[in-house]
Amino acid sequence: MKLLDGVHLSGIIRREIAIRVMEHCSNQRRSPHLAAILVGNNPASQAYVRNKIKACEEVGFGSTLIKKPETTSEQEVLELIAELNQSKEIDGYIVQLPLPRHIDEEKINLAIDPIKDVDGFHPNNFGRMALGLPALKPATPKGIMMLLERYQIETDGKHCVVLGRSNIVGTPISLLMSKKTKPGNATVTIAHSRTHDLAALCRSADMIIAALGIPKFLKADMVKDGAVIIDVGINKIADETHPKGYRLVGDVDFESVKEKCSAITPVPGGVGPMTITALLDNTWETYAKTHSINL
Ligand code: GUN
Repeated sequence: MKLLDGVHLSGIIRREIAIRVMEHCSNQRRSPHLAAILVGNNPASQAYVRNKIKACEEVGFGSTLIKKPETTSEQEVLELIAELNQSKEIDGYIVQLPLPRHIDEEKINLAIDPIKDVDGFHPNNFGRMALGLPALKPATPKGIMMLLERYQIETDGKHCVVLGRSNIVGTPISLLMSKKTKPGNATVTIAHSRTHDLAALCRSADMIIAALGIPKFLKADMVKDGAVIIDVGINKIADETHPKGYRLVGDVDFESVKEKCSAITPVPGGVGPMTITALLDNTWETYAKTHSINL
């Protein structure tokens, strides 16, 4: 079994990005700058955003964290977005999801300038991606594709089952895996809560991408010998033996599945760091485009 190590690979790719920053940025030309809007006190969102900001420092990017209270109105967030769209100092920005219930995520998403949309959630980018045109791609699916590419996982003609159909992971990774690309070119099935005989479907898969948010959902008896397993889940489960009283597990029962598969991503340390690396790469991409740097 090959461990697809997202921490190790992220280290390599982030060093590559850091070198590009050193080569292209100087006193005359500022470095790329990512901003993040965080509304409310969701602890998971706070941790994710903290990691994204920390990663910016690691590669020499500038970063701005805009923290707003839970009570912030939709109008205030829209005004903030209008400012970021105008700013000459900010290359890309994200609005961390989920937003408080009184804010319409779709309205917020539509207000983001597609050129600065480093999450790739705006219909302009998402639609371009679906058509196979150059686009800023959502960070988690892009991170998975980078992982498959760098580990040279063969996906051509393989049956890839995606568990979950979210706009952030399931739907975009299904699109990317089905495109005539390398990695990609797979035969993709999207499975969800209404899928019949999910276990049998999973057993027919050469590759499973689990993104449903249920701790340890995928068990060894649902996996074909030699399958490739990508675990997107980040779930907190109670564990008294840990200092924090909990630990993180994925959507895959790692201990049993690792004996059967040919390759697997761990949680933590698999897809999570690759998501942040892909976000950095998107920020570089949009920066390079506006500063006429050839990629
Ligand atoms: N919440 C969970 N994943 C993401 C992500 O990739 N981007 C944003 N903005 N919010 C998220």
